[in-house]
Amino acid sequence: MPFPIHRPRRLRRTEALRGLVRETTLSTKALVYPLFVCPGTNVKAEIPSMPGHYRWSVDGLVEECQSAHGLGIPAVILFGIPEKKDETGSGAYDPKGIVQRAIRAVKKAVPDLLVIGDVCLCEYTSHGHCGVIKDGEVENDLTLELLAKTALTQAQEGADIVAPSDMMDGRVSRIRRELDAHGLSGTPILAYAAKYASTFYGPFREAADSAPQFGDRKPYQMDPANQREALREIASDIEEGADIVMVKPALPFLDVLALARREFDVPLAAYQVSGEYSMIAAAAEKGWIDRERILMESLISIRRAGADFVLTYFAKEAARLLKC
Ligand code: PBG
Repeated sequence: MPFPIHRPRRLRRTEALRGLVRETTLSTKALVYPLFVCPGTNVKAEIPSMPGHYRWSVDGLVEECQSAHGLGIPAVILFGIPEKKDETGSGAYDPKGIVQRAIRAVKKAVPDLLVIGDVCLCEYTSHGHCGVIKDGEVENDLTLELLAKTALTQAQEGADIVAPSDMMDGRVSRIRRELDAHGLSGTPILAYAAKYASTFYGPFREAADSAPQFGDRKPYQMDPANQREALREIASDIEEGADIVMVKPALPFLDVLALARREFDVPLAAYQVSGEYSMIAAAAEKGWIDRERILMESLISIRRAGADFVLTYFAKEAARLLKC
């Protein structure tokens, strides 16, 4: 219809009108809150590059989970910083490891809060890589055995979902097999299916002390230049039994998210990663942007692109804003 019959501004005149025709919504039910847990008691150590986020000992972590639950946040994802690291990342699959203990404590104190275990070795290896090193490289198939043990011990301590983030080939089917063999066929797998070798993880690596001590993660995480490959990764994770697939990071890869939404009829998650958080936090601290409006805009954009839910360091803040 030619102008002036068609005037899109008519439906933008008031908040009520805009609300009526809004295509995407953001609910607290779609937020997952990432948390870091470390040994000790009474530890609440701020992460310098992620102001407002902390390494918590289990006691404080439980309180933080209670507070998130009180705000209506349905789920947390836990990352562990172990007492000591070694070549094979044994802290990751120790049945009494830091994350395993944290899972048990949180599930006991807040049973309705979903606890997701991040399954990876990089926080637990002395070299900082996501798998075992053989001849200077991360050895895929040996690593699968350790990832399977990691997922199993987390699920046995009560994790509601396990989330492999290592990017080894075949990990989803290996983990599925391990869980099923131990009577845990009801535990879903959230696969970090399209996980890119991204510099946006910088602040996380400071938080988790998990930067690789040599080389980088490009031999296993995806090349940020690739889009079609993401669809192959997602398809193979679904085929291997992933219940939910994830794209990570979120904002720099919205095209991948949108394509994945169109191609696959499975639940889709996105991870708004540490660097995305820190950039917003830093610019807001300088007074250059409006923190609250930017964080809400970024979250609605991730939902609009196709994510059913979002892992975000803004979870508590967004939940508070959604309440007003
Ligand atoms: C572990 C893992 C990482 C993140 C989630 N799981 C770090 C990495 O791959 O280096 C990043 C999360 C973030 O940046 O917020 N492999």
